[in-house]
Amino acid sequence: MSVNLDSESFWDQIYRSNDDRGLSWNEGSESISFNWIVDIISKASRVADIGGGRSLLISQLLSVGYKNLSHIEWSESASLSLQRDLGSKASEIDWVIGDLTRWQPKSPVDLWHDRAVLHFQTDERSCFEYLKSLHRNLSKTGYVLLATFHLDGPDSCSGLPVKRYDDLTLLNMLRSFDGSNWAKVQSVIWTHKTPTLKDQKFQYLLAKRESS
Ligand SMILES: C[S@@+](CC[C@H](N)C(=O)[O-])C[C@H]1O[C@@H](n2cnc3c(N)ncnc32)[C@H](O)[C@@H]1O
Repeated sequence: MSVNLDSESFWDQIYRSNDDRGLSWNEGSESISFNWIVDIISKASRVADIGGGRSLLISQLLSVGYKNLSHIEWSESASLSLQRDLGSKASEIDWVIGDLTRWQPKSPVDLWHDRAVLHFQTDERSCFEYLKSLHRNLSKTGYVLLATFHLDGPDSCSGLPVKRYDDLTLLNMLRSFDGSNWAKVQSVIWTHKTPTLKDQKFQYLLAKRESS
């Protein structure tokens, strides 16, 4: 059923059998994404965390006043554990347990955030489905914040191969999808320390779609 090499049950199993220390991508409360989002977009904006897993990003944004937050994740275990941690505040977030490529919000979002999801789309077809969803669900002048493994980063994660990028290859991929104009806002190469203290080089890119 999935367009991806991996599957929801694969990820669900990872979340069921590991606490946060067992997740190499876990970053705790240190988050470049959080800092960039609060700097660039108002609290009334619609923000989606795509493949949000058990990341604290959505809870952190809620705690500083963001009101239109969506969490898209096909692992039920990851989604429910975040919801449990948030308690009664969980009802303030739109939780979508399902495949990001099939997600269709009522209104397009103003910011699409993805950390460590796009890079698993290693074949042309799954990459196309990902980009189709991004372009369909993001407003015409919205922002995208992508974080993938950098060209000098690891070539796999959780036993799955990944596709690595730098900021230019990410931008070119966005630009060539349907001819929309994309402007780079900022980018950084960031070394993430895994919970077992290994270094992983990530490429972050914040870009804005401009009306053509
Ligand atoms: C490496 S984890 C990153 C999690 C989170 N973004 C973070 O930074 O902590 C990749 C996440 O993408 C989710 N994922 C992968 N493909 C997906 C898809 N097609 N639809 C929804 N979630 C997906 C996985 O379940 C997993 O939670």
